Amino acid sequence: MGPDLSVEFAGIKLPNPTILASGILGVSGEIMIRASRAGAGAVVSKSFNVKGREGYRNPSFIEVQGGFLNALGIPNPGMEEMREEVETASKAGVPVIASVFGFDAEEFAAAAAMGEKGGAIAVELNVSCPHVREVGVEIGQRPKVVAEVTHAVKGRVRIPVFVKLSPNVTDITEVAKAAQSAGADAVTAINTALGMAVNVDSAYPILGGTLGGLSGPALHPIAVRAIYQIRRAVDLPIIGVGGVQDYRGALEMMMVGASAVQIGSAVTSQGLEIFRDVTTGMSKFLEQRGLSSIRQVIGIAANRGTAES
Ligand SMILES: Cc1cc2nc3c(=O)[nH]c(=O)nc-3n(C[C@H](O)[C@H](O)[C@H](O)COP(=O)(O)O)c2cc1C
Repeated sequence: MGPDLSVEFAGIKLPNPTILASGILGVSGEIMIRASRAGAGAVVSKSFNVKGREGYRNPSFIEVQGGFLNALGIPNPGMEEMREEVETASKAGVPVIASVFGFDAEEFAAAAAMGEKGGAIAVELNVSCPHVREVGVEIGQRPKVVAEVTHAVKGRVRIPVFVKLSPNVTDITEVAKAAQSAGADAVTAINTALGMAVNVDSAYPILGGTLGGLSGPALHPIAVRAIYQIRRAVDLPIIGVGGVQDYRGALEMMMVGASAVQIGSAVTSQGLEIFRDVTTGMSKFLEQRGLSSIRQVIGIAANRGTAES
């Protein structure tokens, strides 16, 4: 038997610490089931709100140096349909985290309740989408509003509530503290960084939505930094996300304090095999060092270094 890769945090237990990130494939129950069979310890659904959204015009997803830019505009079929997708995957035994958003705290709470009804093991609040202003960073950049939303959702569901933070802020620890004070069970760090690309031949912005979210390898050091800072500022489990390409990137996040790691863009470039590749790499890493559990690496680098916060 190899090392134990199971992790436990915020009242949930996962067979391994890899999780499919929101928005990458997690739109239908069937695809969430495929990700789980491919080795993901859990999956996060596409973010959904009460009535659904159409999203922005194309191009909405492009490759750039160091990763991808997307300005999808959170298209989704609405909470009734998404409840069915969450239920399909949940009934097949997949641990599903329902990602929700809304235009106000009440909408967040209603969508979260629907995710819980569908059998989700936890809910993740997307208060951090960089390209849909009214529902994204306009919430995620204001600690007070993040607290309000978190509080409303906590009052409506019994499953654990994760708050997904934006890197597009001056001090991410302030927002993490607000989530903690409102009763969040964990924070997910981070959503995409606000970016833009211009076509120099036409001299026009490339994305249909003009501004987009940067994901992939270029985001990784920003995510590691955010986790490191959050870990030192609040006493909440952290789920890392941002540019993980292989087991070493996942371990970096866990060493600075993440209890689990989400993978998004790498699924686009490497396929669903990435989950098995990461867990196999982790097992070998632990074996080579005589460690019996992945839990032994969580936070081992959190107090190293000279950063003030
Ligand atoms: C195409 C695309 C769609 C996304 N949609 C969502 C979404 O609906 N909700 C959300 O919280 N994050 C969304 N994200 C952000 C990812 O979940 C993740 O935080 C980000 O991409 C960084 O991780 P990565 O570098 O592994 O992709 C999306 C990212 C991409 C690339």
